[in-house]
Formats: sequence, C-alpha cells, structure tokens
Amino acid sequence: MGILDGKVVIVTGAGRGIGRAEALECARQGASVVLAEFDPSPAYDVADEIITAGGRAIVASGDVADTDFVDRTVASTVEEFGRLDALVNNAGILRTSELADMSDDEWDSVIRVHLRGHFVPTRAVCRYWRASGRPGRIVHTTSIAGLYGFSGQTNYGSAKAGIAAFTAIVASEMEQFGVTSNAIAPMALTRMTTDVVDDEHRGRDGEFVFLDAGNVAPMVAYLCSADSGHISGKVFGVQGDSIEIFQPFTSVAEIKAGGRRWDPAELGDRVGELFEASGIPAGAENGMTKMRYGPS
Ligand SMILES: NC(=O)c1ccc[n+]([C@@H]2O[C@H](COP(=O)([O-])OP(=O)(O)OC[C@H]3O[C@@H](n4cnc5c(N)ncnc54)[C@H](O)[C@@H]3O)[C@@H](O)[C@H]2O)c1
Repeated sequence: MGILDGKVVIVTGAGRGIGRAEALECARQGASVVLAEFDPSPAYDVADEIITAGGRAIVASGDVADTDFVDRTVASTVEEFGRLDALVNNAGILRTSELADMSDDEWDSVIRVHLRGHFVPTRAVCRYWRASGRPGRIVHTTSIAGLYGFSGQTNYGSAKAGIAAFTAIVASEMEQFGVTSNAIAPMALTRMTTDVVDDEHRGRDGEFVFLDAGNVAPMVAYLCSADSGHISGKVFGVQGDSIEIFQPFTSVAEIKAGGRRWDPAELGDRVGELFEASGIPAGAENGMTKMRYGPS
C-alpha cells in the first residue's frame, strides 16, 4: 500500500534529475504516472523502469510551455486513466549570465520554460478540476536562487520568485474547489547543478548521499497525496534529510509621515530607521552567501 494508490500524477521534466526521482517515487507509492518531457529518450527509460517494477507510466513528449501539447496531455491522461489527481511542475532550464551580458534569448527562454511552463499546465489541470468537481494537488518548483536572489541568475531567479508568488495565488483561487498548490525549493546533484557542487557534497559509497535527487521526492509524493489536503500556498525547502518552510515576503518595519505626504528631502534622515528596526542591511546582498546544506 502506498500513499498514492489509485492516483494519477503528471510530472513535467520527468526524464532526468529531480523529475525522474519524483516520477519513480509517485509510482512506488502506487500512482500511475504521466511523464511530460521535452526529451523522449530518457523519459522512455524512466517509463520502462516504472513498468518493470510493476507500475503504470506513459510518456508525453513535448514542451510544457506549449498550450496545445499540455492541453492534449491533460485530456489524454484523463482518457487513458479515467482521472487526474496531481500535477508536479518540475521542468526547468538554467542559462547563467551576468545581467549586463545576458542575451534576449537567455532571458526569454528561461522565463518561458519556468513561468509559462508552470502557468500552462496549472491552468489546464485547474480547468479540469473545476469542471469535474474532483480535488487536486499541484506541486510547483521554485528555488533559493529566486527566494534569496543569486548573482548571475536574474532570469532564473526572477522566474523562480514568480513561481513562489504564483503558488500562493493559485492556492487562494483554487481553495474553493479542493485544489492545493504548494512549492518546493529543492537542492540535488543533477545535470543542472553538476558544475557547481563541490566534491565534499557528492557523497561516497555506503553513505547517505545528501544531494541525491531521490531525497527530494518523498515530500513531493506527500504533497500529491490526499493526506496533505490541509496544506496550501506554502513553499518548502527540500534537500537531503531536511525539510524547511519559507516565510513569504512580509513587512517587518514601518515609518509614517503622520497623516501627510512625505517630503523627499526628509527621507535621507528617516529611511535609516527601517534598517535599524529590521536589522536588514541597506546595501546589495548576494543571496548565495545564505546557501547552506540543510537548516542549521
Ligand atoms: N538541482 C537543483 O539543485 C535544483 C535547485 C533548485 C531548483 N531546481 C529546479 O528543479 C527542477 C528540476 O531540475 P533538475 O536539477 O532535475 O534539472 P535537469 O536538467 O536534470 O532536469 C530537467 C528536465 O526538464 C526537462 N525540460 C526542460 N525544459 C522542458 C520543457 N520546456 N518541457 C518539458 N521538459 C523540459 C529536461 O529535458 C530535463 O529532463 C527545475 O525546475 C530546476 O529549476 C533544481
């Protein structure tokens, strides 16, 4: 018995890395899995692995930001399996560049795959759940690159911060239909991160490999299950043996002019009070300095 017995889950970008691990875990937990993936070859390997282990999986090969492909995938999932219970928005790409050197294509392609690639599948499943009256689960994929703000990643970080906002707004709109919307900010050693992870964090045989993509998957399977119906609009950090919760952007200090419009000339003296009251430094910060492996 698994926590997803009888359920049907679509995982985007399921051919590699974290998406592959999520698809395998959902199947292990009893779900039939639709692998929506740009690159068919690794997706068929994942499907074979699931089927060989006694599960059910099909590949839908295409671009998650393409409306026709996504709408067809959702329709054919319901046709094939008779239902749809969860969507895992995972597909993503990285094009790292300092802003001043970034090309239009580096900006547009990253924003498209992540933001539009979350919007299009989410809209399709929300339409299905609203019309069918069935409950639904959506798990989005954000990143600390967006939540903290990593230098060299204005495109990727902007998309990922947008996904965190998208998560909360979808949650509030879809609550009335029994649909939850949560996000994970994962960390794992994959094709995407292989150039930046140092040897110390790659793990050794026989050890618990902290950055194994499989460590991200149990929380995603849980968020796809009926058991997590009371949780929505939240962002969870997931890496190794660690699960964290992020606080949304929130106001932490205020100054007031006293019932009149501020004069710009007085702000030089007063804005500093916001930094003093909050402890927030006034200058630029590179969020990469906040990166760590697990809560500490
Ligand atoms: N690896 C990490 O530490 C890390 C950290 C934070 C966030 N993330 C996010 O996790 C997700 C998975 O990343 P990963 O590390 O497994 O990367 P990965 O490159 O190993 O896998 C991504 C998969 O998505 C597929 N894909 C890309 N664009 C697609 C599209 N338009 N349509 C369909 N499929 C598409 C790729 O073909 C690939 O199989 C991404 O959203 C990434 O931004 C990863």
